Amino acid sequence: MRDASPLAVYLNDYQPPAFVVESLELDFDLAAAATEVTTRMAVRRNPEAVEPDAPLRMYGDGVELVSFTVDGAKPAEGLLEQDAEGLLLHGLPEAARLEIVSRCHPEQNTQLEGLYASSGNLCTQCEPEGFRRITFFPDRPDVLTTYRVRLEADRVQYPVLLANGNRVEAGELDGGRHYAVWEDPFLKPSYLFALVAGDLACQRDTFTTMSGREVQLELYVEAHNADRCDHALASLKRAMRFDEEAFGREYDLDVYMIVAVDDFNMGAMENKGLNLFNAKYVLASPDTATDDDFVAIESVIAHEYFHNWSGNRVTCRDWFQLSLKEGLTVFRDQEFTTDCTLFGVKRIDDVAMLRAFQFPEDAGPLAHPVRPDHYAEINNFYTLTVYEKGAELIRMLRTLIGRETFRRGLDVYFERFDGQAVTTDDFVAVMAEVSGRNLTPFKRWYTQAGTPRVTAATSFDGPGGQARITLTQETPPTPGQEHKEPVVIPMRVAFLDAEGRRITAHQKGGEVQDEWVLELSEGEQTFRFEELSDSPTAISWLRGFSAPVILNANQGVDELAHLLAYDDDAFARWEAAQTLFRRAIRSRIEHDAADTALEAAIEHALAALLRDDAIEPVLLATILQLPPTRELAELFERVDPVRLRNERDDLEKRLYMPLTDAMQQIQPKLDDVDNGAFTAEAMGRRQLRNRLLALRVAARDQAAVPEALAQYQKARSQTMRMGALNAVNELDHEARQVLLADFEKRYRDDPLVLDKYFGLQAGSQVAGGFERLDALLEHPGFRWTNPNRVRAVLGPFMARNERHFHQDDGEGYRRMGGFVEKLDAMNPQTAARLAQPLTRWRKVDTGRGEQMRAELERLAALEVSRDLRDVIERALA
Ligand code: PHE
Ligand code: ZN
Repeated sequence: MRDASPLAVYLNDYQPPAFVVESLELDFDLAAAATEVTTRMAVRRNPEAVEPDAPLRMYGDGVELVSFTVDGAKPAEGLLEQDAEGLLLHGLPEAARLEIVSRCHPEQNTQLEGLYASSGNLCTQCEPEGFRRITFFPDRPDVLTTYRVRLEADRVQYPVLLANGNRVEAGELDGGRHYAVWEDPFLKPSYLFALVAGDLACQRDTFTTMSGREVQLELYVEAHNADRCDHALASLKRAMRFDEEAFGREYDLDVYMIVAVDDFNMGAMENKGLNLFNAKYVLASPDTATDDDFVAIESVIAHEYFHNWSGNRVTCRDWFQLSLKEGLTVFRDQEFTTDCTLFGVKRIDDVAMLRAFQFPEDAGPLAHPVRPDHYAEINNFYTLTVYEKGAELIRMLRTLIGRETFRRGLDVYFERFDGQAVTTDDFVAVMAEVSGRNLTPFKRWYTQAGTPRVTAATSFDGPGGQARITLTQETPPTPGQEHKEPVVIPMRVAFLDAEGRRITAHQKGGEVQDEWVLELSEGEQTFRFEELSDSPTAISWLRGFSAPVILNANQGVDELAHLLAYDDDAFARWEAAQTLFRRAIRSRIEHDAADTALEAAIEHALAALLRDDAIEPVLLATILQLPPTRELAELFERVDPVRLRNERDDLEKRLYMPLTDAMQQIQPKLDDVDNGAFTAEAMGRRQLRNRLLALRVAARDQAAVPEALAQYQKARSQTMRMGALNAVNELDHEARQVLLADFEKRYRDDPLVLDKYFGLQAGSQVAGGFERLDALLEHPGFRWTNPNRVRAVLGPFMARNERHFHQDDGEGYRRMGGFVEKLDAMNPQTAARLAQPLTRWRKVDTGRGEQMRAELERLAALEVSRDLRDVIERALA
């Protein structure tokens, strides 16, 4: 496991497997200390194999081999070779039956890949390469087979025994043991295998599919969490219905099981018929989960459910194709959440996330294409680029070929490739076929990393006249890709008149329209419009964020204020405010002084927005928020993050100080928000209430702090409690300590809520950050072996606590480096993720940047995991 420099795997080296597995039987003799696995498989030479007499490769990682037979006999001397990757079996006939007995050690498995113990239960995580930590197997996604799984375990310790598919047999055995046999009729790759053995309570529900079949829904949690399952089950049913209605996809087994696990590296896992979830994305009650948590749970439940088609029925040929399932499934869950939320705010949230996390990734040392062409450690490629940018590519495809054609394409895709392992090229080829378009130029989005920069210039004649739009594009170099080609960029635009209405016009030979999708596919292109019905006051660019690009449209302050007041596209309206905020920050940093005229204009525009009775509360709440520091950092080559954060906070204070009265006046209309309702409207109003409170505290409104205290005391929901805590969390004020102490006392024994406390403490810039950090790590609720706990402390410290993480003596970097090192010995995958903020050293002002680099070099000189080494080496390259 802990090895030398990572060897890369290349897409171009792909070869079909030498053998297919025709069927698989797994017998588990389960125990936490040591589990014995008997693996029986029927293999046959793959007619598509490149070499006719190639050996059978079975991967194994940390698995002990107990015995091995081929057609009932020990393989002859020299035919079975054991190497660093597992087993190689030579001299096999056309077809053979193998039986392997092996052993693994769940209790010692702290990396949480393979079979491991969590809170006394046993569970598995196999994607991407965890199955080889359970037994020897051709563990690659293009080896699909049917599974029959027998689980045997102690009846008292593990009363519940689950695996994929349908339970076909169960019974009692001597010695206090029992067993269950599960069969999954669908072909699946090993990464979708799962088992669970534990003492779990089951919450049940049913769902009747569109063809009238009744599906049993089962949610397994620890008994004390049984009252926190309703939301997850309700979300699951909504997702199942949505997939039928929006995509025509029906569930295929008779039972759908979800198990909540305390120790989990990621959010959740889509194992066929048996999803495993980080408990954080299952358990919710109004007292313990915020509205944001409720929304996140609904979206992750939906995401994993949607994988049943986009990922499981049609899977990936190799891990370079990861976005085939992840990009498509994120796109599908975004569509679902859009359906459950209001007024285009979901799109804004997604764009904000993309900009704060994916754009920096795509501009930094870890940048890679949506379909990478090599990797050293696949675990490091579960990235925002593969997931979120991947979803943007799907969205652009739909924009380019139209909704109906796209939907038809999806039908063809699922139908044609059902039961197969395919590639992103296969996906795009279907879309090209149904649309009759040449999508080859579009595929550059999959192979080229980096965020394209688009500039827009316009010119107009008077009313009734012409308009010209000239768009240019350029993508900056990324590691290993110096030279970039133009990509196909769908740019959705509209012209707005003085009242904010859309102006009509036509393109040469085209119909009269009031909105266009311009396709920019070259370095520079000009688009002409004729017979404009009026002269435009403003142009609404990139509506709905029609492409993941950085746009510079050189718009004046008045034009942006006009869009902010009137644009009927929620994204474009929000974007107008964002552009103004960014411009103000840029001026403060680059000219070392605030542009007072600009800031007065922004304040004026915000005042108008606060007076606007028509705007939806949730949209208002979203627009009022300034971009986070990590997104703003992208505006500069290198920047001092502490100064940037200070300027951001100061701008916020400057803008909202004169608006405290206006904000106070809205607040009484939101007095009844803590009403236990979970509609999108109710959540949006709570969001606005909490945003106004936080902005007033930031603007030093004297009345706001006692209001926060009162809100906390009176709160009947976690949303209002956290709203109050968030509002005061940056105040060096007694109120902050009083509330946090109360919160800690109240939720000390509730790990998921305690994580919120950890996050508030670690993420606060209030003086004494290192002492607070020490105290959190000493807290009885903290555990290094639990990824949620570790992330709850280290994540916010690096993401939001610029003052301490970037303290100029380098203390923050050394602390985090030390924690990464410590964690790496237990859980390399999570350690490699948590090391990522350090990799951004080139973006940080020189003095600090060098200290970050020094910390990376210190780590590089140690014996670290392959996961961590891969990240560090790319960061230092
Ligand atoms: N495939 C999971 C998802 O996106 C994520 C995951 C990857 C979980 C690797 C565990 C390990 O839904
Ligand atoms: Zn996924």
